[in-house]
Amino acid sequence: MNVFSAISQRRSVRHYDSTANMTDNEFQQLMSAVLLSPTSYNIQHWRFVRVQDQKLREALKDAAWGQAQVSDASELIILCADINAWQDRPERYCRNTDSDTQATLLSMIDSFYRDKPQLQRDEAIRSCGIAAQTLMLAAKAMGYDSNPMIGFDPTRVAELIKLPEKHLIAMMIVLGKAQTAAHPRGGQLPMSEVVVTDHF
Ligand SMILES: Cc1cc2nc3c(=O)[nH]c(=O)nc-3n(C[C@H](O)[C@H](O)[C@H](O)COP(=O)(O)O)c2cc1C
Repeated sequence: MNVFSAISQRRSVRHYDSTANMTDNEFQQLMSAVLLSPTSYNIQHWRFVRVQDQKLREALKDAAWGQAQVSDASELIILCADINAWQDRPERYCRNTDSDTQATLLSMIDSFYRDKPQLQRDEAIRSCGIAAQTLMLAAKAMGYDSNPMIGFDPTRVAELIKLPEKHLIAMMIVLGKAQTAAHPRGGQLPMSEVVVTDHF
């Protein structure tokens, strides 16, 4: 499937065939693509929780106001991020570069993020947002539907997945085979309203 088809065919599907499974090979293929998504300074803040324990899926559904896709879809992935990733062994993010470039990059990362908690958090969320779209488009190309979700109690979900300190939850994404098609599109805003030239 070409990328434009994946973009236009991706829709938020809420009702899934609960008997369908994604194979481990498919999951690996999908996540290998996701991990190629861009991040600022290649920091790769994302941490993905693949929830396979069905009891945990049920508890997470309760924390998501009973939304059935949380337990019925083939896969439930909780997209988290390490807010502190910018200073966690940052040499890993440029290990393929020469030592001069590495020294420059490490100094740039440090001065860009140090003492800027809002920026550290924004960056972590940006990384997850981009990964989320890669995940959903790659899943579509592999024949899987998806639904990004933020309709849950984040405190309860954090408890259930034992979210570490200095991490955040960006969203959940379910993946699977649609049982019921998505609603008709809600209506896209006109390009003339959302694209401006040069300045507002
Ligand atoms: C960050 C985010 C959170 C969302 N949370 C939910 C959710 O909790 N439950 C749900 O059914 N849909 C959720 N959606 C899906 C949106 O309702 C959907 O993307 C939007 O209506 C556009 O429809 P489409 O994805 O089919 O193009 C969420 C989407 C995004 C991007």
